[in-house]
Amino acid sequence: MVKVAVLGAAGGIGQPLSLLLKLNQNIETLHLYDIVNVPGVAADLSHINTNSTVRSFLGQQNLRTALDGIDIVIIPAGVPRKPGMTRDDLFKINAGIVRDLAAGIADACPRAFVLVISNPVNSTVPIVCEVLKQKGVFDPRRVFGVTTLDVVRASRFLRDADPSISAAEISVPVVGGHSGNTIVPLLSQTTPPLPASLLESRLSEITHRIQFGGDEVVQAKDGAGSATLSMAYAASRFATSLIDAIKGGPSTIEPTFIHLDADPQNAQSIRALGAGDLAYFAVPVQLGPNGVESIVPISTVSEAEAEALVVASEALAKNIEAGIKFVHIS
Ligand code: NAD
Ligand code: LMR
Repeated sequence: MVKVAVLGAAGGIGQPLSLLLKLNQNIETLHLYDIVNVPGVAADLSHINTNSTVRSFLGQQNLRTALDGIDIVIIPAGVPRKPGMTRDDLFKINAGIVRDLAAGIADACPRAFVLVISNPVNSTVPIVCEVLKQKGVFDPRRVFGVTTLDVVRASRFLRDADPSISAAEISVPVVGGHSGNTIVPLLSQTTPPLPASLLESRLSEITHRIQFGGDEVVQAKDGAGSATLSMAYAASRFATSLIDAIKGGPSTIEPTFIHLDADPQNAQSIRALGAGDLAYFAVPVQLGPNGVESIVPISTVSEAEAEALVVASEALAKNIEAGIKFVHIS
């Protein structure tokens, strides 16, 4: 049984995510933390008849208690995009929020697994890692940028393109980062493989839709935020896979944005594909009791994917550097 804290639990993602976590039978304690509205959310969820206990923690003065004894911390705290904004535009506000929450984690539950949802993920994950490093408690196997939504979208969009594809069964490795052209779906490497006719006729259209799927939701919500429900589903899926792995259950593979020191040996194949000397990259990861058990090597990609990886890596280098610098100058 595990103890989970959601930081930003009263928000658009936080609420449905907390609902899905309340339904997870392997969670014994659910701590909901926010700077507004969280007592009501917790009271509401606490009436659901699963065995877990829900507690609310309102305001920064209660962060420490919210994190005491926690095994998994999930962070959707921060502002979402509005139409016309990039994820990088969120850095100004979210970088400081995530840095302060990471400091709280380092002090209260330094061995916790940390799942970062707040954007821009390409920078907020390095921020969390740098703070944990500064505090001497960094373990690269235990910090994850949640990129599951890209994988969820990829499988769904492939079914939209070809109804013979099962959205639930197809597995698409999506690597790189989590924004626009840093998202690189490896459609040549799906399991099962895609029909050749689809790859030939609609490859760049589907790739573009996966890379910019977040924009579809931001535009449709028209100023009221970004993906929340699909994101809650994606984060709950990742958390469930991690919990199963921690408990020694069947090991699952999930793509996630990590520090490549989590598995330096297998990171070599990712570096050879295009990650070069980047410290962070989204990769398919085999989860285990300590978090990242191993990076699943990728041996080949198509020519178009190789080019996309170069573009992604250039953008990622800047995002990663921005995150690292922020921690050292602030
Ligand atoms: P939201 O505004 O609806 O909710 C954010 C919540 O964070 C609010 O309840 C707010 O009070 C809380 N918050 C703000 N500052 C805080 C702090 N210092 N401590 C604790 N809580 C704090 O936003 P949302 O739609 O839930 O999105 C949250 C973040 O998730 C955004 O940055 C968004 O871009 C990101 N996101 C990421 C993905 C992904 O795939 N990784 C997908 C969707 C959204
Ligand atoms: C997404 O992919 O939906 C999120 O990163 C939110 C966004 O800003 O698009």
